[in-house]
Amino acid sequence: MANEQRLMDAGADNDERAAEAALRPKSLVDFVGQRKVREQLELVLHAAKGRGTAPDHILLAGPPGLGKTTLAMIIAAELGAPIRITSGPAIQHAGDLAAILSSLAEGEVLFLDEIHRMSRPAEEMLYMAMEDYRVDVIVGKGPGATAIPLELPPFTLVGATTRSGLLPAPLRDRFGFTGHMEFYEPEDLERVAHRSARLLGVEIEADGAAEIASRSRGTPRIANRLLRRVRDFAQVRGDGRVTLGAARAALEVYEVDERGLDRLDRAVLGALLRLFNGGPVGLSTLAVAIGEETDTVEEVAEPFLVRQGLLARTPRGRIATSAAWAHLGLPMPTGPAAGGGLWSQVASGQAASGQDGLFGDDPGNLGA
Ligand SMILES: Nc1ncnc2c1ncn2[C@@H]1O[C@H](COP(=O)(O)OP(=O)(O)OP(=O)(O)O)[C@@H](O)[C@H]1O
Ligand SMILES: [Mg+2]
Repeated sequence: MANEQRLMDAGADNDERAAEAALRPKSLVDFVGQRKVREQLELVLHAAKGRGTAPDHILLAGPPGLGKTTLAMIIAAELGAPIRITSGPAIQHAGDLAAILSSLAEGEVLFLDEIHRMSRPAEEMLYMAMEDYRVDVIVGKGPGATAIPLELPPFTLVGATTRSGLLPAPLRDRFGFTGHMEFYEPEDLERVAHRSARLLGVEIEADGAAEIASRSRGTPRIANRLLRRVRDFAQVRGDGRVTLGAARAALEVYEVDERGLDRLDRAVLGALLRLFNGGPVGLSTLAVAIGEETDTVEEVAEPFLVRQGLLARTPRGRIATSAAWAHLGLPMPTGPAAGGGLWSQVASGQAASGQDGLFGDDPGNLGA
């Protein structure tokens, strides 16, 4: 499970990134949703074009699959400028960055993906490049090393990050504009599904698109992925059209429920409710109960469950909300034990000794 692409994972592997390239909107008007960011960007780009200068550096921040890379490419296209693409992890040494910066043409867009993963020395070089269009190239080692200043042509840095909180303040401050990407509304995802279906040459009905949109976790990447799976289903078992029936039947096969929860999400929720009576229960206990790694539960399943208001992380452990009971169609326990079955057992001495493992993890461990 660890290495394969999960259907509802907002991230993408290399194969998928190739498939995505064909579906990327190429201009701002084609870019669905994100009204605020789009309007803000339009102003930044329009004004710079009017002045005939390179726009301020731009940071795009937000969760995976919401369109940061797409927007970076649109920015270059709207400016009519070439784009150079690299990423934080690809820049190991300051020298790697110096090589890229010194070969930029005037007005070029440098797209630095996962900018929060750049090395420290490269980051410091970037500060100076962003502010003064200059880098110091160090020649030689030790006491004899000298810094040779190198002028850079004006360029626009477009940085993307899923973790803007990890960016050091001096770096964040050097961006003239930050676009905060939000999860998409279902109506926007419907438009994404229609648009992608057109590009894929697939016939899609309005309620089929709506069904895919409502299960896509606010994320266009997932909407596109579900569309491809429903298309397969429609082609093999139906008449090739993405209808409501095809979408429902296909997503049943792939175990994606009406709210966009997948098998792992429901396993976590199911264990929390059925085995632990809604919690509170420690993270590692919950993970052991479903045979998963704690990291998987914490980083893959929980963020969406929390965002959906189905699960809460409390200092005493994970607890289910009333919406979780309703979603799994289970009656919510009533009375004093509700939401704390095991804890009340412990208090009354009913829990068997030798089951320390059950409480062995630190319920205060709330993770990141
Ligand atoms: N506003 C949008 N309109 C239409 N399609 C979109 C939109 N935003 C994203 N997409 C589609 O979703 C897919 C993922 O987008 P993109 O690669 O830009 O996400 P990202 O934010 O860069 O993700 P990551 O953080 O994983 O790099 C692309 O195929 C793109 O076509
Ligand atoms: Mg990207």
